[in-house]
Amino acid sequence: MIGLDSYRKIVDHALPSCFEGIRPQALHDATMWYPEAGGKRLRPVMALLACEASGGSVEDALPVALAVELVHNFSLVHDDIMDHDATRRGRATVHTRWDEATAILAGDVLFARAFEVLARIPDPAAHQEASRLLSVAIRRLCEGQAMDVAFEKRKDVTTAEYLDMIGGKTAVLFAAACHGGALSAKRTNRAAIEALDRFGDAFGMAFQIADDLLDVTADSQTMGKPWGSDVRAGKQTVLVLEALARADAAQRRALDAALGNPKATDEEVRRAVDAMRASGALAAAEALRDRHAQAAADAIAPLAETPAKRALLSLNEWARTRSY
Ligand code: IPE
Ligand code: IPE
Ligand code: MG
Ligand code: MG
Ligand code: MG
Repeated sequence: MIGLDSYRKIVDHALPSCFEGIRPQALHDATMWYPEAGGKRLRPVMALLACEASGGSVEDALPVALAVELVHNFSLVHDDIMDHDATRRGRATVHTRWDEATAILAGDVLFARAFEVLARIPDPAAHQEASRLLSVAIRRLCEGQAMDVAFEKRKDVTTAEYLDMIGGKTAVLFAAACHGGALSAKRTNRAAIEALDRFGDAFGMAFQIADDLLDVTADSQTMGKPWGSDVRAGKQTVLVLEALARADAAQRRALDAALGNPKATDEEVRRAVDAMRASGALAAAEALRDRHAQAAADAIAPLAETPAKRALLSLNEWARTRSY
């Protein structure tokens, strides 16, 4: 990702230390399964950049960076159980490679380890604030996930409800990564912390809308997770809300055949995606994504011009147009 490899390497180098002493062996291996498979490491890289953009050094933000990546991986392990998905980061999901009990526990261990790692923050006040921040973020992530699952059974979800749901399940952790990174800088100020929190939140909204688009516009090879999973699961993404509001009778039939139908064939899903495109739903989702990306850029406009701020802005631009 656009010149950020050195930040990613810092995270990759420090991450194995987060898995020491976990037993028995099967639980240890299941806990490491997603982290060692890679992923984009966006949240930890953003924590490091937010710290630098606030006048700190990357070492200061390392505990927050590692903790948010562990929380993210916890959420993925449990998300794959909820979404009944068989692949993640190009390999079998934890609950299919092992079993559900192991996956629930691996997620729990990742969650707990995040707070063990956060305790590496040397300053007690910063540690206390980061712990509170992460606890609230995880609670709100779970609330968003609960809405996501509850919406599968509903046909009257509004755009406002969708935005509330993705704000919880996705944006809150990006906000916490940026906020936590900024507060780790020794001489940061409240205005910078708040600006970076707002940046992370708006970035996360755009990121999740892009993820919802990629579920149908990218392929499983590129994404490392199944194509059309949201369609078959009946997820109420912005694409679905917009398509149902705009579809003519034929488009409606194509949507009804695939949405919420776990047995829908690839051809049926493809026809539903064609209906999304033809009805203008895809373009509407792109416009909504771009509005949030613009809000993210606006949020950090007042910060001093630094290489870290420029990197956050280019990451924001990448997230808007990303293809993986
Ligand atoms: C996946 O997040 C879950 C969402 C919030 C959409 P990422 O796309 O950041 O997943 P990895 O970490 O790169 O695998
Ligand atoms: C992302 O939801 C939010 C979390 C994982 C907390 P998705 O269900 O859209 O994520 P993917 O598409 O499985 O990565
Ligand atoms: Mg999900
Ligand atoms: Mg999922
Ligand atoms: Mg998704």
